[in-house]
Amino acid sequence: MDKLRIEGGIPLSGTITVSGSKNAALPILFAAILMDSPCSFLNVPNLEDIRTTLRLLRMLGLSCECEDHVVQTEPGNLIPEAPYDLVRTMRASVLCLGPLLTRLGRARVSLPGGCAIGARPVDQHIKALEQMGARFDLEGGDIIGRCSGLRGAHIVFDMPTVGGTENLLMAAALAKGRTILENAAREPEVVDLARFLISCGARIEGHGTSVIVIDGVQSLSAQTYSIMPDRIEAGTFLAAAGITGGKLTIKNCPYSELETVINKFQELGMQISQTPDGVLAACGKAGLHGTDVKTQPYPGFPTDMQAQIMALMSIASSSSIVEERIFENRFMHVPELIRMGAQIKIAGHTAMIRGVSHLRGAQVMASDLRASASLVLAGLAAHGITDVRRIYHLDRGYERIEEKLNAVGARIERLQQ
Ligand code: UD1
Repeated sequence: MDKLRIEGGIPLSGTITVSGSKNAALPILFAAILMDSPCSFLNVPNLEDIRTTLRLLRMLGLSCECEDHVVQTEPGNLIPEAPYDLVRTMRASVLCLGPLLTRLGRARVSLPGGCAIGARPVDQHIKALEQMGARFDLEGGDIIGRCSGLRGAHIVFDMPTVGGTENLLMAAALAKGRTILENAAREPEVVDLARFLISCGARIEGHGTSVIVIDGVQSLSAQTYSIMPDRIEAGTFLAAAGITGGKLTIKNCPYSELETVINKFQELGMQISQTPDGVLAACGKAGLHGTDVKTQPYPGFPTDMQAQIMALMSIASSSSIVEERIFENRFMHVPELIRMGAQIKIAGHTAMIRGVSHLRGAQVMASDLRASASLVLAGLAAHGITDVRRIYHLDRGYERIEEKLNAVGARIERLQQ
């Protein structure tokens, strides 16, 4: 197992490029199950979760090749079984459920694992697919779904679920008749999936709003598709500029999809602007000061940036409050930040952060993907050396993070734990 050793206190400076979006690439790759023809995907990030998805797609019968951020898939004889060994490492594996059911009328998928950030049920996926005519049983930890062709339905989600909306978009694209998804997730990654499906012949309207209408078609035929840039990786780099008192130009930064995040960084005292070379981010002259953040579904502040902004708040000159409203167990970075000298108190869904003058390097343990990013940020700003252990979480979601940060002045070493 690897760890990162970070020498803190160096202001970052230079240009850093954002990779393709993990959370857009995952559902789009699963959508290859729906296709009658080969697909070519460009700008696919080189990440552990992508490799897991390709392994799973191969087990499901597709041929997949991956080289230099390009993934080619070819249809094959589909096998509708997603085994536990793969699914347990990545919650997004459940995204094969909708495509398999709509193509084959059956699917056996292990209940998903993934990040330890709460119970994260898939009841909304199941309930919605049942409304489209599927029946489900639970056997040995596997969900077994059957149907004789899915049919369109009017589905109202209890909450906007990103994965649920994506699973249903894919299922409905080849179902019989019209499906209406109400209270659908509006995240840019859902929109990217819808755009890909439309480019393959799907009939979808309303993506990016909370009501999506899908008219099922007989078949889908893929085109070459380029995955959108990763807004959370981009947001993490903005945070790296702010927390180190540095100045970074961020290339391929999806500015409009990050507007809520950028507004909050500006409230914290950062200067962020669009330039012809990318988004320029710097810490303001007066340093960082406190603000309040509440995580919400898009276009609200993303839960996937909560841990990172908290690292900045921990060295702000005044207090901040963070309310986590999406996941119930997403403050696992807090005890580790406290080990580095942060002053944070948690009460239920709320964290109160009293800024300190500086953090101190320490041995810390990453517990989930975004918590790991928060600890790397804290390490970049801290006085002394920080060892971030269990970085396999980080490798699931950030491509070559230490190489990218070292190229703009950071001193990070990857070592065996
Ligand atoms: C996706 C993202 C993840 C992000 C999250 C919220 C991917 C691969 N992952 O996760 O990085 O943090 O969106 O923006 O895109 N819920 C239920 N029942 C369900 C489904 C969800 O109760 O059937 C709840 C969840 O427990 C959570 C909330 O709904 O509290 C949102 O979850 P959801 O949007 O589904 O997140 P994911 O798709 O798993």
